Amino acid sequence: MNIQPKDFEFISELIRKESAIVLESGKEYLVESRLSPIASEEGFDSLEQLVTALRGNKKFGLKGKVVEALTTNETSFYRDIEPFEMMRTQLIPELLEMRKAEKALTVWCGAASTGQELYSLAMMIREHFPELLSWKLTILGTDLSKEVLDKAKEGKYSQVEINRGLPAQLLIKYFEKQGTEWQLKKDVRDMIEYRELNLIKPWIGVPQSDIVLLRNVLIYFDAEVKKEILGKVRRVLRPDGFLFLGAAETTLNLDENYARRTSGRGSCYTIKKD
Ligand SMILES: C[S@@+](CC[C@H](N)C(=O)[O-])C[C@H]1O[C@@H](n2cnc3c(N)ncnc32)[C@H](O)[C@@H]1O
Repeated sequence: MNIQPKDFEFISELIRKESAIVLESGKEYLVESRLSPIASEEGFDSLEQLVTALRGNKKFGLKGKVVEALTTNETSFYRDIEPFEMMRTQLIPELLEMRKAEKALTVWCGAASTGQELYSLAMMIREHFPELLSWKLTILGTDLSKEVLDKAKEGKYSQVEINRGLPAQLLIKYFEKQGTEWQLKKDVRDMIEYRELNLIKPWIGVPQSDIVLLRNVLIYFDAEVKKEILGKVRRVLRPDGFLFLGAAETTLNLDENYARRTSGRGSCYTIKKD
């Protein structure tokens, strides 16, 4: 199904308002390929009809479906490995020392998608820092999309998803075969709580965190939204905590209150001290 320029403009504005995701012109193909299945499912013959229904706001749940369909949920186990190596070799050992009195550690991932990122961390904790399992360990994953979060909670992945980054010994140790798919064992799933949160709405229930993972989501936003979000991160990141952004993302020229810390090819951000 083709999209008319005026309908593309309407969809771009809707998506920007609801999720802050910027859909520039040239992305018509993306809108067509993601929204055509929804139009068919909903019984519309064209994207024009779908947009008319959205404009009238009469079909319950349609707006949410359209917004979810236009998010990009690309993720994988141990994506870009360096952040995980930096956590394993430096940051978690440092946090173990820094938090040894309170015995509490909190991680928040603000764009958790289908869960591979936080499950990678959970398996790493079980492998290398089992002492943390007796601490008050809080791992929260949030995302705008309910659909991806449902999958994250289930912790069930296809062979193709498993092949993307998961070492064989971790598959054998932490997963159970379920038909053609693999499901994480319950004790690993239970380490993480997933819930819906739109980064451009109030951050209700986001805890003060030692590690904030906000990887590969700022790239979809314009500079003003990135600045606003980085400012809000400073309010939930503990003063000595660590922020991870995606490999193509930075705080540079957006928020000068962060200092970059590098380790090999990996990097994270800390809040500058006065
Ligand atoms: C490309 S994935 C990144 C997943 C993971 N962090 C990684 O790096 O592999 C981006 C995620 O951001 C979510 N997202 C996009 N806009 C959002 C918003 N305004 N609030 C919360 N999540 C959002 C999408 O639903 C998607 O799951």
